[in-house]
Amino acid sequence: MSRNSTDPKNMTRPHPALTEYYGNSNHRRGFVRDLFNHTAPDYDRVERMLAFGSGPWYRRRALTRAGLQSGMQVLDVAMGTGLVAREAIALSGSDGHVIGLDPSIGMVNEARSTLALPVVLGRGEQLPLRSDSFDFLSMGYALRHVSDLDAAFSEYFRVLKPGATVCVMEITRPRGRLALLGLRIYMKGIVPLLTRLLTRHRETARLMEYYWDTIEACVPPETILAALGRAGFENVRRHTSLGIFSEYLGNKPITPC
Ligand SMILES: C[S@@+](CC[C@H](N)C(=O)[O-])C[C@H]1O[C@@H](n2cnc3c(N)ncnc32)[C@H](O)[C@@H]1O
Repeated sequence: MSRNSTDPKNMTRPHPALTEYYGNSNHRRGFVRDLFNHTAPDYDRVERMLAFGSGPWYRRRALTRAGLQSGMQVLDVAMGTGLVAREAIALSGSDGHVIGLDPSIGMVNEARSTLALPVVLGRGEQLPLRSDSFDFLSMGYALRHVSDLDAAFSEYFRVLKPGATVCVMEITRPRGRLALLGLRIYMKGIVPLLTRLLTRHRETARLMEYYWDTIEACVPPETILAALGRAGFENVRRHTSLGIFSEYLGNKPITPC
């Protein structure tokens, strides 16, 4: 699949503009930042409900499958409240080996309340970090929030050492019509309702509605894999579970391409 040629800036956007949430694309970044800032205190509770408590287990399995080992220097992009970073710390053997990055101060403050890792405020598309620094880069459930897949993946490639691994976890829209309908009813109907009851916050229910709408509008896996390849990664691949849990993987070549 090729780049989105209809985009005037020739970006590979993860999904078309969802104008019902933020008007035009220029307001998307501020909308996403505010949404996560406001809902950060509810995030972990809602995630536990949504995933029936399997989130930490799944994240650790995904990191292990991707090859995260003790002693590796890890960058967790879009760390949020630290759900991936916590598992990365357990696998890498020390919090000194894992750095978290996120643009939302609300999410970062939540992470800091339970984790003692170094944190950088920033976005995946523009990492304020040195080149060739990390053995492993993870990103959990945030690819839909970057403005341009090519910009983000070029940055991931730049900060990774030769031979290092990128692992992007995402939810993928199911291909089957019945599965899609079932997931839509659960994610767009039931989850926001339960979220409203659990948190009593309209904004957090809105986060969950947005969560589903970005998944449904997201570019297909082939576009994501192609963008990883364009950034220079080799051995680009996707691991899926239950048809909806995707891990996009690639390695920075050991010899320069
Ligand atoms: C759904 S949360 C995921 C948190 C965590 N990784 C997890 O597995 O639960 C998405 C996170 O992406 C962050 N985010 C939004 N835009 C981003 C960007 N352009 N670059 C990096 N992170 C971004 C948000 O602030 C938020 O903390």
